[in-house]
Amino acid sequence: MAVSSAPILRVEQIYKRYDSSAGEISILKNINFTVSKGEFVSIVGPSGSGKSTLLNIIGTLDRPSEGDIFIDGVDAFSLDDHDLAYLRNSAIGFIFQSYNLINRASVLKNIEIPCIIAGVAKNERLERALKIMGLLGIEDKGSFKPFNLSGGQQQRVAIARALMNNPSIILADEPTGNLDTKTGNEVFNLLKMLSNKYDRTVVMVTHNPELAEKTDRIIHLIDGEIERDEYINTKDI
Ligand SMILES: Nc1ncnc2c1ncn2[C@@H]1O[C@H](COP(=O)(O)OP(=O)(O)OP(=O)(O)O)[C@@H](O)[C@H]1O
Ligand SMILES: [Mg+2]
Repeated sequence: MAVSSAPILRVEQIYKRYDSSAGEISILKNINFTVSKGEFVSIVGPSGSGKSTLLNIIGTLDRPSEGDIFIDGVDAFSLDDHDLAYLRNSAIGFIFQSYNLINRASVLKNIEIPCIIAGVAKNERLERALKIMGLLGIEDKGSFKPFNLSGGQQQRVAIARALMNNPSIILADEPTGNLDTKTGNEVFNLLKMLSNKYDRTVVMVTHNPELAEKTDRIIHLIDGEIERDEYINTKDI
């Protein structure tokens, strides 16, 4: 039986609207769900259905028009900018389709960045980085520049960077979107391993139904609304 615990993420009554010349457009409408520790959730839906907008709000990169996001019980949008930036850097790991690495910095430096921002001492940073790079199979790539790595390797660097502050939640927007099928599967399997073996909580937007089917739960977004919230693989039964 599942051990009940406070959810890592609570998404409460999220609305997002934009003003346009044609009037107000509603992008997200009354989005509600919670995610527990260790869950691997995928968000799917047609292009323009609001997946990235929702993920950016969960990641506190964007503010909702209405509603609240609780991360580890903390009401994110009640924080001032300084505390919100701290929460974002310490509690959330981001992985993007296009990796978002700094090309002029080495792989190791890229991976260290969240820890540099958090003020983690150099020895501790290096220790964490080497351990995580080993876990992801990029331990020999620290001195490379990102543009000298393959797409799959660059995404592994981004995953390593996302893990450095031991985040409560990992958010991935189409992490396999720029990769061929085989490499995409390898990157997906790393996220799956982090969830299964290390009890990491992952929310992933994907267009790939085969990958979504391998997560624990699929949230289907249509026109900015949750059309279906489907539990498919329950780990704890
Ligand atoms: N700043 C903005 N102003 C107005 N409309 C916006 C803005 N940002 C996003 N939108 C609109 O919000 C809708 C949802 O966009 P979003 O990027 O969240 O979709 P998505 O589901 O991630 O699509 P895709 O699968 O193509 O990545 C789109 O219609 C988009 O045009
Ligand atoms: Mg998107």
